[in-house]
Amino acid sequence: MRHFPLFLDLQGRRVLVIGTGEIAHRKAEPLARAGALVEMADLFDPAQLAGCALAVGADAPIEELLALSKAAQAAGIPVNVVDRPALCSFIMPAIVDRDPITIAVSSGGTAPVLARLLRAKIEALIPPAYGRLAAMADSFKDEIRRRLPEMALRRRVLERLLGGRAADLVFAGREDEARTEFSRAIAEGEPERGMVYLVGAGPGAADLLTLRAQRLLGEADVIVHDRLVTPEVLDMARRDAERIYVGKARANHCMKQEDINALLVRLGQAGRKVVRLKGGDPFVFGRGGEEAEALAEAGVAVEVVPGVTAALACAAQAGIPLTHRDAARSVTFVTGHTKEGRLDIDFAPLVRSKTTLAVYMGIVSLPFLRDGLLAHGMAVDTPAALIERGGTAAQRELRGSLDELVQKAPAWSTGGPALVLIGDVVGRGVAVRAGKSAYAR
Ligand SMILES: C[S@@+](CC[C@H](N)C(=O)[O-])C[C@H]1O[C@@H](n2cnc3c(N)ncnc32)[C@H](O)[C@@H]1O
Repeated sequence: MRHFPLFLDLQGRRVLVIGTGEIAHRKAEPLARAGALVEMADLFDPAQLAGCALAVGADAPIEELLALSKAAQAAGIPVNVVDRPALCSFIMPAIVDRDPITIAVSSGGTAPVLARLLRAKIEALIPPAYGRLAAMADSFKDEIRRRLPEMALRRRVLERLLGGRAADLVFAGREDEARTEFSRAIAEGEPERGMVYLVGAGPGAADLLTLRAQRLLGEADVIVHDRLVTPEVLDMARRDAERIYVGKARANHCMKQEDINALLVRLGQAGRKVVRLKGGDPFVFGRGGEEAEALAEAGVAVEVVPGVTAALACAAQAGIPLTHRDAARSVTFVTGHTKEGRLDIDFAPLVRSKTTLAVYMGIVSLPFLRDGLLAHGMAVDTPAALIERGGTAAQRELRGSLDELVQKAPAWSTGGPALVLIGDVVGRGVAVRAGKSAYAR
């Protein structure tokens, strides 16, 4: 380690910045945010250094910057000159400000761009709510010291609160409940209660996960996942997290829904932090509602984290706008799942309203869909698309009229999850991947 990191108290202290341009202002801003009295000047005068805690050189003539560096170092005042490591005695880090939590990243002056990229990654992982969590812990500081005088116990209780349910409640904006959790843990030292997150895994590409899903995957003790969750997404989970596969394939349920509900309740009651990972969004044909109800009935805390549902991912990657002022003013998500060989869909309003149809689980029932829609007046040449493994690098599309899809789908399908999009918008695909913005009719 070439440079030792320190966090300096600049409250009410003078800091001299030489330069008054954009760069100088960019350097001055975080210093002022930390409470420093920042004085900016175009030219350097040694008298300005008197009483300064720090000096910074930015966009000023080189002779001014050389003089500043020399005088500051002679006076023992730490100095930084932007982009001139030889003139610096300290490095300005890239800062992640989650006040009162502050994270500073440095590349030792060798690769500031890399440090900034790292900062962006850390910012994405650490939600702004960490600051609120630190503030909440601080507000209980005196009570914790009074009630838990033994240091080891105090640390255990705090670790449980800050790494567990209380923290999750703060991140979810449920601060009142988090306060109750803090008070209870401090008063009773009772073991932590579990929490189950119903998390949308999106269509399969790891970079289509939400930041919240990503964070929870890195923290959960147990991941309960099903068939649609890809290995790429599962790889984002903590290495030592327990993984339980409860996969479901059409007509080949690996575990019954009641058993999955019971498993989630059991894990939650055992105090575990559980991520129930579901393909797409948990509340879109995902039985997330049933699982949330079972958990709530059993008194286990549950939170839902949305995911990119298949219709959105397929349409985006295929360049098909789901709504368009000239073609469709609404979009309807329907299930093509059949019950006793029948489709339970009211076709008439779907055809009348000229809505875009996104049919989930529709590949097997495609002939029934075609028959029902055409019988209720849909034009035979209405454009449609069958999209397999949408939103991933392996996305495939088959376009044509409904009738053409019915004929070609069995030989075309490779068995991956597939969605049917039907409506005039399909004929208006935008050439997104070719980088063109023009509509292709
Ligand atoms: C039980 S539903 C789950 C839907 C999921 N909750 C969602 O929001 O996307 C499963 C169906 O979703 C559709 N599906 C899921 N992922 C898909 C993908 N990547 N590409 C195309 N269709 C997908 C398929 O129609 C599949 O049969």
